[in-house]
Amino acid sequence: MKQLSNQELIKYFKKIRKDFPILKQKVHGKKLVYVDNGATAQKPQVMIDSISDYYSKYNSNVHRGLHTLSEKATSEYEKVRTKTANFINAKEEEIIFTSGTTAGLNLIANGLLDKIKKDDEIIISEMEHHANLVTWQQLALKTGAKLKYVKVLQNGELDFKQAESLLNKKTKILAITHISNVLGTINPIKKIIEIVKRKTNHKCLTIIDGAQSIGHMPIDVKKLDCDFFVFSAHKMCGPTGIGIVYGKYSALEKITPSIYGGDMILEVEFEKSSFNKIPFCFEAGTPNIADTIAFGTVIDYLSNIGMKNIEHYDKILTKYFLDEIKDLEKNYGFHFYGPKAISKKSAVFSFTIDGVHSHDISTILDKFGIAVRGGHHCAMPLTNSVMKVVASSRISFYFYNTISEIDYIINCLKKVKSEFDKGEFLF
Ligand code: ALA
Repeated sequence: MKQLSNQELIKYFKKIRKDFPILKQKVHGKKLVYVDNGATAQKPQVMIDSISDYYSKYNSNVHRGLHTLSEKATSEYEKVRTKTANFINAKEEEIIFTSGTTAGLNLIANGLLDKIKKDDEIIISEMEHHANLVTWQQLALKTGAKLKYVKVLQNGELDFKQAESLLNKKTKILAITHISNVLGTINPIKKIIEIVKRKTNHKCLTIIDGAQSIGHMPIDVKKLDCDFFVFSAHKMCGPTGIGIVYGKYSALEKITPSIYGGDMILEVEFEKSSFNKIPFCFEAGTPNIADTIAFGTVIDYLSNIGMKNIEHYDKILTKYFLDEIKDLEKNYGFHFYGPKAISKKSAVFSFTIDGVHSHDISTILDKFGIAVRGGHHCAMPLTNSVMKVVASSRISFYFYNTISEIDYIINCLKKVKSEFDKGEFLF
C-alpha cells in the first residue's frame, strides 16, 4: 500500500479494527480498549484462519516425509523463511526459527559458551528486560567473563559517554534492546553498532533485541549491520511460540548448536554425529509448524499495510498521548518515565500515580474495559534501581488503537486518581 498522509492514516487504522475479532468484545460491560501491546499484540482473522487451515487440511511433519501432505507443509513452512528474510532484508539461510525472543537470545548465548573466555567482556544496558539480561549474566557466570552495564540517564536515554568508556579490545559481546519495553526509548542502534565495531576493531558481536521494534517500524538488518537481530512473532500480530533469530552468516558460523536431535543432524553414528548446514543445525526437533505458517500470513498482512505507515501512525498516537499526559503530570500526580522527545520515543508509556499502587491502577482500569500491564514488566533492575519504584503501570499502543481510545483512557486515568484521593475505590 502507498504511504498515507496523517489524516488518511487515522481514517485507515480506525477501520482496521474489524480485522481483529477479539476487539469487538466488551469487558465489564465496556468496549475493550486493549493497550497491553508491549506484552503481546492481538491477532487478525487471517492469521487465526491460517492455523485452522494447516491443522484441518495439511497437518504433517516437515523436512522428513515424501508424501503429499508433508511436501505441502514443508513448502509452506520454508516459504515463511523466505518471507521473513525479505521482511528484514536478510538471506534465507540467515533466518533461524525459535520459540521466541527469549529462546533466541539463549540460543546465541549458549552457542557462544565455548568462545567466551575469562578475561572477555560483555556489555548490556540497564534497560534490558530479563531475557536480554539474565542470559548474559549466566554466560558471564559460566565463563568468568565480565558483565558491564551501560547506564540509563534520568531522561530514559542511554548514557553514551559512559557507554563509550566501557568499550575496549576485550569487549566480545554487546547485547542491547532496540526499544525499551518499559521506557519506550528508541535506541539509536545503527549509531551504537558503528561505534562498537570501530572501537573493538570489529571483534565484538552486536546482538539486538528487536522484540519491541519489529512490529512497529521497518527493519533492515543489512543497513543496521548488526550480527544478530532477535524477535518474537506474537508482538507483531503473529502467534505465540514462534520467534526468529536473524544472524549474519559469518556470525552464525561462530556459534555452536546447543540443542541436539532430529533435523539438526546430517549423519549419526553410535560414536559421533555430524551436523546439518546453517540454519538447520540450530533447529532441532519438530518445529512449531502451524504457528510458523501463520506467522507468514502476518508478514503478508503487515507488508500490505506497509511498515512505514505503521511507524507513522505509531508516531501520531505517541505525539497525541505525549501532549495529553502533560496535564496528568502537572495537575494529577502522575509520573511518566522515558524520553519525551517524539523521535526518541515509541508508543510505550510506563507511569506511576502518587499514592496509588500499580496493581490497583490495572484492576481499576480493567473495570473501565482498559487492558494495561502493571508490575516490573520483566525488567526488575530497571524498575527498582533506575526508576526507583517497586512497580509501574504500562500503556502500550498498536495500530488498531485510536485517538478516541486515548481520550477515553485519559478521562479514566483522571477518575482513578480522583476516586483514590476521595477514598472511593471503584472496585
Ligand atoms: N517483555 C514483555 C513485556 O514487556 C513480556 O510485557
